Amino acid sequence: KMNLKGRSFLKLEDYTPAEIEYLVDLAGELKAKKKAGIKGHSLEGKNIALIFEKPSTRTRCAFTVGAQDEGGIPTYLAGNEIQLGDKESIEDTARVLGRMFDGIEFRGFEQRYADVLAEYSGIPVWNGLTDTTHPTQCLAMLLTMKEEFGHLKGLKVAYLGDGRNNVANSLLVGCAKIGVDVAIVAPKPLWTSESLWKRCDEYAKESGATIEITDDLDGVKGADVIYTDVWISMGEEKKEQERERLGKPYQVNAALMERTGKDTTIFSHCLPAIKEKEVTEEVFEGPQSRVFDEAENRLHTIKAVMVATLGENE
Ligand code: CP
Ligand code: NVA
Repeated sequence: KMNLKGRSFLKLEDYTPAEIEYLVDLAGELKAKKKAGIKGHSLEGKNIALIFEKPSTRTRCAFTVGAQDEGGIPTYLAGNEIQLGDKESIEDTARVLGRMFDGIEFRGFEQRYADVLAEYSGIPVWNGLTDTTHPTQCLAMLLTMKEEFGHLKGLKVAYLGDGRNNVANSLLVGCAKIGVDVAIVAPKPLWTSESLWKRCDEYAKESGATIEITDDLDGVKGADVIYTDVWISMGEEKKEQERERLGKPYQVNAALMERTGKDTTIFSHCLPAIKEKEVTEEVFEGPQSRVFDEAENRLHTIKAVMVATLGENE
């Protein structure tokens, strides 16, 4: 059994392959428990702050319901209402929250804020998305893949479109670490940063995974999972025109799905999706799509992160 008590979940790079797999497996157990109608108590009496500088449906609801399912008490704090980093320094807010709460979820712009919150609050901080990472999304994708294929090692994920956004970065790290092959299929200006690419090559060497970053659509060959995300992330609205131009050739459509050469390939997306942009309605609604299974799995995986790091008797 893995002991993650008291740890923050700031990025997947802080976690070992075994720890990541443990969280995915724990999520599967918590999902089965919920489906069996068994109420959990591992977060009984724990107060959990949910800070959101950016909007959210899945992440906010997963942290809220996930906490409540285990007896925890979530409190939503909108970033602009608590003057985070504006009228009060992030260090001061962190020290106040640390004296009142037992855990903090943070969704925002700067990854640094999540790090500072963890350092100054002294309680576990969980990353609900920043400009550069979205680690809980990767856990949900991995659980969805495990449910579909029964295992993870040796599978291949191809991610199309904005290859350097938060979702792409976290999928790349998670897959490289646990031995899932990844292809980032994207236009050159949207490729993974050199530094992250280099670190992921090291993780892949350890796990036996292969990483390919390419602008050639043939990169999807052999993929078990085709994944995409919006071309314009929250906070990037000014880049709309350029992103649409860059993204267009990398749209996930029926022809692209066929290009994997496998009829068992599934499609997923972190959501929210913009239909007929990064993915066609046909694929989104089609038989290969697992988007709502993955959305549900946000709940179980996020609950697993809270239970593992803060739970009393998981
Ligand atoms: N996938 C995801 O994080 O969705 P939300 O932005 O709705 O939380
Ligand atoms: N890349 C997207 C993910 C949303 C869950 C964004 O940051 O807006």
